Amino acid sequence: MTLSKRILSGVQPSGDLHLGNYLGAINNFVSLQNDYECYFCVVDLHAITVWQDPKVLSNKTREVIAAFIASGIDPKKNILFAQSHVPHHTQLAWIFSCVARMGWLNRMTQFKDKAGKDKENVSVGLFSYPTLMAADILIYLATHVPVGEDQKQHLELTRDIAQKFNNDFAVNLFPIPEPLIFGEATRVMSLRDGNNKMSKSDPSEYSRIMLTDSVEEITKKISKAKTDNFPLPDSIEDAKKRPEAFNLLSIFAALDNNSTSKIINTYSGKEFSFFKKDLTELIIQKITPISQEMNKLIDDKTYLDEIMIDGKNKATMVADSVLEKVYEVIGLAKP
Ligand code: ADP
Ligand code: TRP
Repeated sequence: MTLSKRILSGVQPSGDLHLGNYLGAINNFVSLQNDYECYFCVVDLHAITVWQDPKVLSNKTREVIAAFIASGIDPKKNILFAQSHVPHHTQLAWIFSCVARMGWLNRMTQFKDKAGKDKENVSVGLFSYPTLMAADILIYLATHVPVGEDQKQHLELTRDIAQKFNNDFAVNLFPIPEPLIFGEATRVMSLRDGNNKMSKSDPSEYSRIMLTDSVEEITKKISKAKTDNFPLPDSIEDAKKRPEAFNLLSIFAALDNNSTSKIINTYSGKEFSFFKKDLTELIIQKITPISQEMNKLIDDKTYLDEIMIDGKNKATMVADSVLEKVYEVIGLAKP
């Protein structure tokens, strides 16, 4: 039942997408679509682990589908859909919450970061979040999962769940999925603090470039981006000791399809003002066509809904057969 090359990845509709989502995930999806059978899912049920405004959630879901397509993911070749449209994810997630151990989930650093000091008061869903993520992946028997660096630990947990399920029931049902974490910017950092991840939840808008930012916004954010007082580094070793410089250089490299060392060679010893001018131009050149296309697509609600329905139908066919097998293996009574 295992396939050799099937991808699943998910993006939350919990806010507008930023450069970290693009370089760490979506841009990599684009390059993988020719070599794998791909399922790209808007994980709306993950988004509601923290409060989401019911009035805007469904439009945010459509916006992520629009971002996928505007970035170059072909909706005819790939399966694009919303997680909540295929209930099999949550059905399998319950089973996985009976397979995963409390100790495994207790080690998840994303939960610790997101819950902060408020552990008693966050939703149960925020804690069990990774079991739903494992279900997203394994309900399609996906073999590969492209994600940003921050998701590595969740992927390891998914592998542990697949392994334990197979061992407990003495089957070879689930593949042990491989993370695909690649590119020059697997962990894009905040523009205000090179030691913190660029994220939707950072209170400062100046910490991130959004896919929908205007030319003026991009220019302003890059000109205000934190740097140090030295000229640009002349080696990768030196750059790595200067988090803000390293972050901007790796963003440049990723957008330019180049290596960070090559970009360091080009700008070594130059002033940040000079480098920032080129970086601004490059971001505008790469991001503006995506945001223009996104805006066009967002206006065409019917088209986006058709894509999601088509995706739902295709995804459901696979999810149905895998869930049936899982129920049989576990020994649930068949009516
Ligand atoms: P967020 O972490 O912004 O809430 P999502 O949960 O929707 O975003 O993540 C979607 C994808 O984007 C995941 O594969 C995640 O690893 C990737 N990603 C998110 N932030 C970054 C970042 N700062 N750098 C690289 N990849 C990132
Ligand atoms: N947990 C991921 C994040 O926060 C989103 C996600 C949910 C996901 N399900 C997934 C990513 C399945 C890859 C595969 O970014």
